[in-house]
Amino acid sequence: MISYKDLGLVNTKDMFKGAMVGGYAIPAYNFNNMEQIQAIITACVESQSPVIMQVSSGARKYANQTLLRYMGEGAVQMMKEMAKAKGLKEIPIALHLDHGDTLELCQSCIESGFSSVMIDGSHHSYEDNVALTKKVVEYAHQYDVTVEGELGVLAGIEDDVVAEKSTYTKPEEVVDFVGRTGVDSLAISIGTSHGAYKFKPEQCTRNEEGVYIPPPLRFDILTEIEEKIPGFSIVLHGSSSVPMVAVDIINQNGGELADSVGIPEEQLRQAAKSAVCKVNIDSDGRLWMTAAIRKTFTDKPAEFDPRKYLGPAREALIEMYKHKNESVLGSAGHA
Ligand code: G3H
Ligand code: 13P
Ligand code: ZN
Repeated sequence: MISYKDLGLVNTKDMFKGAMVGGYAIPAYNFNNMEQIQAIITACVESQSPVIMQVSSGARKYANQTLLRYMGEGAVQMMKEMAKAKGLKEIPIALHLDHGDTLELCQSCIESGFSSVMIDGSHHSYEDNVALTKKVVEYAHQYDVTVEGELGVLAGIEDDVVAEKSTYTKPEEVVDFVGRTGVDSLAISIGTSHGAYKFKPEQCTRNEEGVYIPPPLRFDILTEIEEKIPGFSIVLHGSSSVPMVAVDIINQNGGELADSVGIPEEQLRQAAKSAVCKVNIDSDGRLWMTAAIRKTFTDKPAEFDPRKYLGPAREALIEMYKHKNESVLGSAGHA
């Protein structure tokens, strides 16, 4: 058993307390490789933001859970050196399991040094979700590891599973769920979804620049939930904005992404000011990396050194993460 505390990581308790009081949200960025981890740490140190680094099942298959855990530990050391060199404060870093689906997986992550886990029982019946989540909480809390549960189903692609339809979280269930499971935070479904195609074009209007404007998130449901469990930390998955500029760079450089639509930044700003304390972003990182790599290959077709195309991709990620922290989630300056 390796405790996350010995690795310099923190759980999400104090992060969420700060976010709730301060009216901002903690960024939860997915990572699968070295360039992503370097970009997340660089951006969050430079913008002085706490950060949750999260590992999905897809990431564990791609990069190996143990290696990712060591990278999480390495991220703490990198953060310390970078903060010292730049004369900045050290930032809190949590290492989180994203969309854990079994007790055994959560246990294995906790035993290898994760500081926070999500148990996603949202695809089960309500009672099975309660039972599974409660078991994970009982195990995790022995080690001071925080647990995120989920009520309601998001549409989109998540770990190779495609959910066609979303089911909004039922506010009447949250008091019972939170009380019976003992979770530390709750992911809810209010209209966000996973991936780069969150809305169908026919659901959207278009502004004068041709940008798709999706229907607004269900802030009424969020408000009802906040009233039922005041001060409780809420999580939003599927919160990439799918910036048109990144999609355009991809398409101008040989890509074929059509009709991709994300969550407008203004709505995420509004959510971050509420009880939403954690906002999950993965797809925007994928888009910006792809845009930078495609552009490098267009501009320099003879290039074959991975550092020459992954380097610009890492720079694009740094800019994007800083922008999220500073101008969307408001977490910058809260290290
Ligand atoms: O929940 C979805 C995340 O974007 C992770 O996706 O399993 O393809 O890494 P992934
Ligand atoms: P996006 O696909 O919108 O980036 O959502 C990521 C996510 O929710 C990871 O859990
Ligand atoms: Zn998710």
